[in-house]
Amino acid sequence: MKHFININDIPTKDLRKILTDAKKRKNLRKNLNNLDVDKNLPLKGKMLIQMFEKSSLRTRLSFYLAIKQLGGSTLTLRPDELHLSKGGESIEDTAKILSNFGDIFMLRTDNDKKLEEFKKYISIPIINGLSPSSHPTQILSDIFTVEEIKKKPISKLNIVWIGDINNVLNSLVAASLKFSFKLNIGCPKRYQSNKKFLKYIKKNKNKIYIFDDPKKAVIGADVIFSDKVVSMNDKVDKIKKLNHFKKFRIDKKLMSYAKKDCIFLHCLPRGKEVDEEVFLSKQSKVWLQALNRVHVQKSILLYTIGKLR
Ligand code: CP
Ligand code: NVA
Repeated sequence: MKHFININDIPTKDLRKILTDAKKRKNLRKNLNNLDVDKNLPLKGKMLIQMFEKSSLRTRLSFYLAIKQLGGSTLTLRPDELHLSKGGESIEDTAKILSNFGDIFMLRTDNDKKLEEFKKYISIPIINGLSPSSHPTQILSDIFTVEEIKKKPISKLNIVWIGDINNVLNSLVAASLKFSFKLNIGCPKRYQSNKKFLKYIKKNKNKIYIFDDPKKAVIGADVIFSDKVVSMNDKVDKIKKLNHFKKFRIDKKLMSYAKKDCIFLHCLPRGKEVDEEVFLSKQSKVWLQALNRVHVQKSILLYTIGKLR
């Protein structure tokens, strides 16, 4: 069994194996996004337990479809209904019960330490469905989407992030290290001081560049990623922060500095960081990006349980 908690903890060859399996499985399906099960039913009789301590639409739906297509089942727990959230039960005991009833545990948490605590006591794999510091299932799936559209390995592309230094970017930075792709980051100077982030940058200094001018960041881009300026864990003055990011809004003008066939990606939900015109343009691939999460998460589920072909 293997956990899927952070991209930097997973060997590149395993990440690549997950992507290859997802591509094969996606190609083999007639109906991509319905409940028809894959022929070999690899997760028949298995149960995924999901728990969300924060809001979610896509992660919830895509894991639901993913486990169903693999022939298994899922149960979603509301933390407010568990003893754990009220201090009435420990993580240790909760983890032991989860291990006895389920086969895989997917947790979206408001605290990275909880993932580590669960890991200590659980005997089934844990998948990180977003934490304050990372969003690994999102980024692995986004790499799949980029390679599917561009028909090239991501290492041959110029990837750009315009936005906050947040959990999604942390996973993108970790991925740039694993898959060896060039990454330009456009972010206001005052938001460039996140410690964990700077550690990664230091490690990969030849391929990651930070700009406080969004135009400079997007020159030559094959892919532009963005995300909400204010994340769920962000305890900031929202109006002030949005103001600081005003000049980083992705509009047609900014897109014109990138390559002609540059695509726009966004994990969603969106805020005001992108113009409606860009978001709804042909260059925007956000709907395919969201749907692809089903296919990559299927292969992540198989990986964690040791059933990846
Ligand atoms: N992108 C993403 O994780 O979406 P949700 O928060 O809706 O799950
Ligand atoms: N950075 C965002 C991602 C949402 C999917 C957040 O954490 O709120």
